[in-house]
Amino acid sequence: MAESASTAPAVDFVGGAVGYRFRSQAGRSHALLKATGVSPARPLHVVDATAGLGRDAFLLASMGATVTLIERVPEVHALLAEALEAARSESDELAGIIGRMTLLHGDARALLPTMQADVITIDPMHPPRTKTALVKQEMRLLRDLVGADLDVAELLAAALSADCRRVVLKWPLRAAAPPAPRKPSHQIAGKTVRYDVFVRSQPAAEPTARNV
Ligand SMILES: C[S@@+](CC[C@H](N)C(=O)[O-])C[C@H]1O[C@@H](n2cnc3c(N)ncnc32)[C@H](O)[C@@H]1O
Repeated sequence: MAESASTAPAVDFVGGAVGYRFRSQAGRSHALLKATGVSPARPLHVVDATAGLGRDAFLLASMGATVTLIERVPEVHALLAEALEAARSESDELAGIIGRMTLLHGDARALLPTMQADVITIDPMHPPRTKTALVKQEMRLLRDLVGADLDVAELLAAALSADCRRVVLKWPLRAAAPPAPRKPSHQIAGKTVRYDVFVRSQPAAEPTARNV
């Protein structure tokens, strides 16, 4: 657990920006939903391999997805576990959402080969920006706790060989992509970040009497 609350990033699903987005339903048009394919009509199972402050996972779970969150830094895992419990007791609606979120402590590079999911999302600490003022306060505090995620290429490779249909990498809009075993199928661009989407191609259809 972090020594002082003032130097720990705030993880809060009830108040703040996440709570506001939830109450106002402003997240319904979020690019992450398009990138993952999650919607209330398609409540997929997502593994969030880089849980962090849990914001993306909460958005996905609030749209009906079942989300397994993986976080390897003990202090961040503890903050997240605490915030999930606080939200669970806030209302029945939040309890329902938190009930679809399962938090694991560990390194996703080791855990992904043992898991099955519809979608894996990866949002590592991004390379430092030159305009540091643009980096939000919570992300700065998280970076102080976590440092840089220098093994993103390994994580991406683990995700791309895991048992899942789609991998989504969130990355700064203009930064060079981390090395990957294959190219993304498509990209969804936002103002400052983009989502590189890797869709697994369907296995070739068995020949039938008609098409042989
Ligand atoms: C930028 S934050 C993710 C923010 C998150 N998407 C959100 O919505 O709050 C990246 C987090 O991923 C974690 N992380 C990076 N690589 C990881 C790995 N291989 N396994 C587990 N956690 C990892 C870091 O410790 C950090 O907390």
